[in-house]
Amino acid sequence: MTERAVIVAADFPTATDLADFLARLPGEKPFLKVGMELFYGAGPDLVRQLKQDGYRIFLDLKLHDIPNTVKSAMRVLRDLEVDLVNLHASGGKDMMEAALEGLTRPDGSRPMLIAVTQLTSTSQDMLEYELLIPHPVEEVVAAYAQTAAEAGLDGVVCSPREVGVVKALCGPEFLTVTPGVRFADDEVGDQVRIATPAQARLDGADFIVMGRPITRAHDPLAAYRRARADFEGVTL
Ligand code: C5P
Repeated sequence: MTERAVIVAADFPTATDLADFLARLPGEKPFLKVGMELFYGAGPDLVRQLKQDGYRIFLDLKLHDIPNTVKSAMRVLRDLEVDLVNLHASGGKDMMEAALEGLTRPDGSRPMLIAVTQLTSTSQDMLEYELLIPHPVEEVVAAYAQTAAEAGLDGVVCSPREVGVVKALCGPEFLTVTPGVRFADDEVGDQVRIATPAQARLDGADFIVMGRPITRAHDPLAAYRRARADFEGVTL
């Protein structure tokens, strides 16, 4: 995988809010991340419509349940024809393998599947004192990524800071999708392990996910183009 792309986190409550946002990006067809808020609010019909309109979709529902339940849910998601879906690596290898099974169509094709390692809002303190995982976050991310790779997944969600260790362990083709990306002059919000688009590029991330720095920008089009210029190297 050599493509680099900015994925815009479409964290809106309704399809109308999304349409209003997309209207502010004339001439652009961004790779969109549909997460829990929009999916629970607008449902699968919106996803089908966006696919019909030619958008690439990362369906970010972060599944985490017993293997059989995840497999059945993935079977439903595969028919939405999205490009990328995810689950929590902490659900374990059996769950990840079951997910892949559910996602694979009779002809062998399937959306890409990636695993969340540790949320980018998780700090070292939280890891140790709330989750009772007494290891450096980077090590935990690397171990979860390795399990995801062994299960046959296509990549992981991780912070830009962890791309290097994940690629070293799982290979250059193993995808890294990195949220927690902020422009140098942005507010951090609730993200903890963050980097700029330019730094994520230097780190070797395949995709960056940016939400609020674009969706809540005074000029979303300028912010989106700035992110693409910094990360993809495109001049617009
Ligand atoms: O607004 P912001 O740029 O923080 O949005 C980041 C998006 O990426 C959110 O939709 C969030 O749910 C998602 N995400 C994340 N960290 C992960 C996985 C997904 O921030 N580890």
